[in-house]
Parts: sequence; structure tokens; C-alpha cells
Amino acid sequence: MSSMSVDWSDACVLITGGTGSFGRAMTRLLLEERHVRRLVIFSRGEMKQLNMRREFKDHPALRFFIGDVRDLDRLRLAMRGVDVVFHAAALKQVPVAEYNPFEAILTNVHGAANVIRACIDAGVKRIMALSSDKATNPINLYGATKLCAEKLFVAANSYAGGLDTRFAVVRYGNVVGSRGSVIPLFLEKRRTGRLPVTDERMTRFWITLDQATRFTLGCIELMHGGEIFVPKIPSMRIVDLARAIAPGCQCEVVGIRPGEKLHETLVSEDDARTTLMYDNCFIIQPHHHMWDDLGYEPPNGGEPCPDGFRYGSDSNTWWLSAEQIRSLVQADERRYKSDAAEEQPDAEAALSYAGRPVDEPNVENRLEAGRPA
Ligand SMILES: NC(=O)c1ccc[n+]([C@@H]2O[C@H](COP(=O)([O-])OP(=O)(O)OC[C@H]3O[C@@H](n4cnc5c(N)ncnc54)[C@H](OP(=O)(O)O)[C@@H]3O)[C@@H](O)[C@H]2O)c1
Repeated sequence: MSSMSVDWSDACVLITGGTGSFGRAMTRLLLEERHVRRLVIFSRGEMKQLNMRREFKDHPALRFFIGDVRDLDRLRLAMRGVDVVFHAAALKQVPVAEYNPFEAILTNVHGAANVIRACIDAGVKRIMALSSDKATNPINLYGATKLCAEKLFVAANSYAGGLDTRFAVVRYGNVVGSRGSVIPLFLEKRRTGRLPVTDERMTRFWITLDQATRFTLGCIELMHGGEIFVPKIPSMRIVDLARAIAPGCQCEVVGIRPGEKLHETLVSEDDARTTLMYDNCFIIQPHHHMWDDLGYEPPNGGEPCPDGFRYGSDSNTWWLSAEQIRSLVQADERRYKSDAAEEQPDAEAALSYAGRPVDEPNVENRLEAGRPA
């Protein structure tokens, strides 16, 4: 695949939800490897912004903007002079969305629509929204809101009309080391000698934070507008994860929670009909005339998916070995301790958190997840 160039050194980038796991990892990448001219962090919490300012040692390219994606006026102000947007802000905990559906819809759906409106008004050139495997054939409200957001971002290419504003989506699975992942929960429960496992058959896709950010960055350089990019990533059985974290512990089967699936899907059988398969990723193309009107030509090397194809965490051909799971867990344990320190409002704790490495290169290298070449 060839990539369209983005002149990062002259670009102003904005990340909604920039203080989150993805936002901080992307910030490091953009500052250290792309040397962006200006990077705006847009989120609600002032403490998280303060901690991030310290973590990045008051980097001169960084700007912090307090705002809520539910507030269109605030987004319009923030988008002035912005060239590229990563939309990461979301409520992402399945049970939280189940019990607070109005809130999840306001942030994940109305927020997405507001980001689109503000980007079109400000003439932002490229916008990449982050989505999840839970958006594929959703059975919980979180997944349903992410599906709505995906649809909004794909359709937004036609709202932008003749303008040079393009929207695309990246959809991936569980991020190792992100806030609220199952690994910190297992690490905490290890002390009790019993780990709660929902179902012994359960499988999940896994991607590291470094792979997720690099893949997303590659996609924004490659995007034409309207695509949903899906990386090829490994699967893991939840029981294997539990055994790697606490080999001596007893696994207690607690049953699937409301809104949970046994296995996740990144490309459904229906998606597959318009999906091209590459060495390292899938590109789901939209069912839109707009696609042809925009003169889209898919990157070279893509093959249509075979009839009946589905990319599921259970049917995946790539599985993490026990040793790889152990490496991931060790890396995550260190990150988890750092995150716990960050939660403390005390300045010393925040300062000791500053400067910690965002990624563990040894683990990333071993996994070699897909990213567009
Ligand atoms: N983590 C995963 O396993 C995973 C997997 C697939 C896809 N994703 C997607 O990736 C994206 C980023 O995930 P993440 O792990 O980085 O999440 P995260 O660590 O929970 O960060 C979420 C960020 O969004 C901000 N935010 C929340 N509500 C907001 C609002 N109404 N307005 C503005 N900012 C708001 C939060 O800061 P404040 O609370 O201070 O506003 C925080 O900066 C999400 O869209 C998620 O759905 C995540």
C-alpha cells in the first residue's frame, strides 16, 4: 500500500479524549516521531490534563483545551486552524453504558455528530474516529453507539460535499494496558486466590497500545474517506490470560455479563462482502455512491474476502502463545502501577508518573501486529 503524505511538521492536530490511554500514546508518537507543529488535547477533566502536561514536560507544541464533545460551540472554537483530528473521546465501559444509556448516546453518538459538524465548519482535512469490535453486530449499548458513530463518520464524507474534508474509521479489539481492561482486574483479584472468569470458552482480540496508535497513524496517512480500517491482530482465550496472570489461582466461572458476547467479531459476514483483505489489515468499503463519486481507488494488493468469510476472535488463525501473554501481562502490570499513581491528586505522585515509557518495546516487537505498509 502506498501512503498519501501528511506534512506533520506543519500540521495542527487535535485529539478528542486526548488524556486517555490512546490519546497519551498518540501524543507521544506525534511529538517524538512526527514532530507536529501544534497538538491540541481536548477533554473534560482538568487533573488529567494537568498530569499529562507534566508527563510531557510542558512540551511547547502541546495545548490543553477543556471541553465536552457534547458541546458543539466549544468544539467549533477548538477546531480553529486544525488540520487533522483523532476522535477518541468516548464512554467505553460496557456495563456503564448499559445502565446509563442516555449518557452513552449523548457522548458517543451526539458527541460524534458534533465533532463532524465542527470539523466540516472549520475545514479540517482528515478525521479518524476510533471504533471497537463491539460495533460489529452489536448486542450492547456501547457497541450500538459505536456502530452509530461509525455510520455517522462514513456518511459525513457526503455532507462535506466538495470540501477537502475526509472522514474514516479505525475498528480494533481490546487494547492491552488501556484503562478498564480485564488485566488490571485480574491483577487485583490475584491476591484473593480466585479469578472471576465469565466463560471458559470466551475469546477476545488483543492489540497493544503501540500497535493501535501506529496502525491508526498509518491509516490516517492512507485514508481516502469512508473506509473502516481493521488491523489483523491476535486472539487470546480469557482462561489462558487468567492462568498467565495467576498460575496458582482458581478460576471461578461467573457467567457472561449482560451485553457480553462469547466471541467478538471485527469483520462480520455482511461487512465482508465489501471488504478487501491485505497482508496486515482489512479495509471495509462503504456501500455508498459517494465512494465512486470521490474517484476512490483502493490501495494495491487487496483481495476480496471469500464468500461467507467472518473475522472473529474464535475463528482467528493468529493466537497468542503462553509466553507472549505473560510478557503482555508483565508490561501491563508496570503500566497499571503507573496509572494507579496517576489517580492520586498529589503533585509528587503526578511528577513521578511523568516521563514513564508509554510502551514496552520488547513486547511490541514480539507481537508485530499488522499496520498498513
Ligand atoms: N481501550 C480499548 O480497549 C478500546 C478498544 C477499541 C476501541 N477503543 C476506542 O478507543 C477510544 C479511546 O479509548 P481509550 O482506551 O483511550 O479510553 P480512555 O482511556 O477511557 O480515555 C477516554 C478519554 O475521553 C475523554 N472523554 C470522555 N468523555 C468525554 C466527553 N464527553 N468530552 C470530551 N472528552 C471526553 C476522557 O477524559 P475526561 O474524562 O477528562 O473528559 C479521556 O481523555 C474510545 O473511542 C474507545 O471506544 C478502545
